[in-house]
Amino acid sequence: MKKIEGFRCVDCATESGLQETKYTCPRCGGNLSVVYDHKALRKRISRKSLKADPERSLWRYLDLLPVSGRAGIPPVAAGWTPLYHAKKLGAGLGLKGLHLKDDGRNPSASFKDRASAVVAARAFETGEKTVAGASTGNAAASLACMMAQRETKPVIFVPRTAPPAKVAQLLVYGATVLSVDGTYDQAFDLCREACDEFGWYNRNTGYNPFTREGKKTCAFEICEQLNWKVPDFMFVSVGDGNILSGLWKGFTDFHALGLIDKLPRMVAVQAEGSAAIANAWKNGGPIRPVDGRTVADSISVSLPRDGAAAVNALKESKGFAVTISDREILSAIPALARGASVFAEPAGAAAYAGLARCAAAGTVREDDSVVIVVTGSGLKDVASAMKVSGRPHEVGTSMATVRRVAAREKIS
Ligand SMILES: Cc1ncc(COP(=O)(O)O)c(C=O)c1O
Ligand SMILES: [Zn+2]
Repeated sequence: MKKIEGFRCVDCATESGLQETKYTCPRCGGNLSVVYDHKALRKRISRKSLKADPERSLWRYLDLLPVSGRAGIPPVAAGWTPLYHAKKLGAGLGLKGLHLKDDGRNPSASFKDRASAVVAARAFETGEKTVAGASTGNAAASLACMMAQRETKPVIFVPRTAPPAKVAQLLVYGATVLSVDGTYDQAFDLCREACDEFGWYNRNTGYNPFTREGKKTCAFEICEQLNWKVPDFMFVSVGDGNILSGLWKGFTDFHALGLIDKLPRMVAVQAEGSAAIANAWKNGGPIRPVDGRTVADSISVSLPRDGAAAVNALKESKGFAVTISDREILSAIPALARGASVFAEPAGAAAYAGLARCAAAGTVREDDSVVIVVTGSGLKDVASAMKVSGRPHEVGTSMATVRRVAAREKIS
């Protein structure tokens, strides 16, 4: 079955074919969106067919992905992560219907596994040998994980400042790791140059049109896991804007298929020091690069690589952007852990920090249904967590000190 009609540019709407176009719009260089034949797909996909599908990974949506068979699917289960009704966490903000999608539960412990799984499968089908990618850390770790069992390992460009746990993942999975003495943006450009020169297949976020496709599966899962009750708001932490635009693509694909009759309002949560998308949304102008500095390394981006699609998603969904300080991001880590038992890395906790602001301001109200996406595990960046987690009590080996601590802490 031919399920894909082609690409449409997110900037100028020019259409192009899957065979002739590899990465970006042949007319303006903008990022591309994959257009599906929804009419044909309506005959194959229904709430009933999805309910009957025993597959518990993002590959339950194979019909809606740019992959034709199962041969190139990486042999680890990406997607179908838990969605929790976060009652305690929600009560703290005065919200009854707060849900938390824990994407830190993916194989390499971040949301990025969704995109890398799809790009790896696509690369296999189209006969690409060497796959390369630039990353703040998670996209690379996920690509390395998805391709670990392949003969040709990926080439990764990563800033020297990436948290050690993410670099360890890359090395353990056997990727060729090129440590860039610069920012994520510089790594991104260097990767593109190298791909042009060596003919490597480029996984770079947004630039490769299939990253958004993998990411949209999270929205599909949320619809199913909420028993088709689409939330009023989706809170998402944003760097390049590809997770946000991917989630929006998922909701709009399901809407076009008649599976849902409502769309959520998308909320982009950015760090104050890395807020190019929030600025563009507020000013109504084009995306302008910023300095890109925040404790949340995964959303530390100067020039967002899927910014236009993210701003489109905010506009189309009647959503908005909110910015938060690094202090709010760090305090969100123990708040999430203690309120919902989920340990998030700074960028993963940022969405909650954005929601806390909006709940306090009354932008989000008691009866609104809200989903926050936790995009990465706290084990990715323990050093940041330790800044706000407190310290252990030093007791040496003395029972007397244990008694003193118990009394002081009122532990009976
Ligand atoms: C944990 C985490 N959260 C959020 C993001 C932001 O995603 P995007 O850059 O697509 O906006 C990333 C991207 O690296 C990430 O790794
Ligand atoms: Zn274009």
